[in-house]
Amino acid sequence: MDNVLDLRPRSRTSVGDAEAWTAHWSDDHQQSVSQRFFSVYRKAVFARSVSWFVNRYFPEQGVFLEAGSGTSETSMRIDTRAGARTLIALDLIPGVLAKCHPIMDVRISGDIFKLPLRQASVDGIWNVGVMEHFTAPQIDAILREFQRVLRPGGRLILLWPGTDSIPQRILRVAEILINLRPRQERFRFHPSEISQLHSVAEGRGILTRHGFEMVGADPGPRSLMAFKILVGAKPVARSSNG
Ligand SMILES: C[S@@+](CC[C@H](N)C(=O)[O-])C[C@H]1O[C@@H](n2cnc3c(N)ncnc32)[C@H](O)[C@@H]1O
Repeated sequence: MDNVLDLRPRSRTSVGDAEAWTAHWSDDHQQSVSQRFFSVYRKAVFARSVSWFVNRYFPEQGVFLEAGSGTSETSMRIDTRAGARTLIALDLIPGVLAKCHPIMDVRISGDIFKLPLRQASVDGIWNVGVMEHFTAPQIDAILREFQRVLRPGGRLILLWPGTDSIPQRILRVAEILINLRPRQERFRFHPSEISQLHSVAEGRGILTRHGFEMVGADPGPRSLMAFKILVGAKPVARSSNG
């Protein structure tokens, strides 16, 4: 696929999630009225939240990774500081990267559990609506991988849906109504969100357990009550000379 580096590990043990995400990002599915509406909403609302947090918490220059980027539409308003910030989009599904927003400098098809990046090689990592799709042990593995590739002092910004997310609740009610009509397969707008956050405090606990220092958080208002937003920093090792 043009402009997409395929760096997925050869030995993936499970392809179940890849199948669900490939179907989700297929042209047919993305042409539906609901998915087109989500695309507009991502660009109009969530892109502003991402831009605000990136501008506030990421350094002025460096290499930054969107881990689980999808189309990267929510990154389209990031100020790249005239190219001083290099943006990498990484997703498991090569097809969605081919449609990725042009603000992203590099597109890599790779696995969030085994990032094709060297230790301490990136200045910031962010994602939007990704963490909640994984189990707690998987989230632990992902955060260990983020710790590995972040340089000391590097920042992590997670937009993670909460159990009290108003847009998500509206979608769940819509799914129930749609599924009242008999159909072959249960309708859902996207693969299940199995690990929504109960609170910012829960998110703080998860990040600090993985060695991040909390440097910022938002319980909902900055994403119109869709996400808990967490900002962590990988600590800079203290010199033994004191
Ligand atoms: C809910 S979507 C969010 C996409 C994008 N951030 C957005 O807001 O539209 C979750 C994304 O995670 C990607 N993903 C799932 N498992 C992954 C993995 N193991 N490695 C990398 N990306 C993965 C999916 O392909 C999908 O694009």
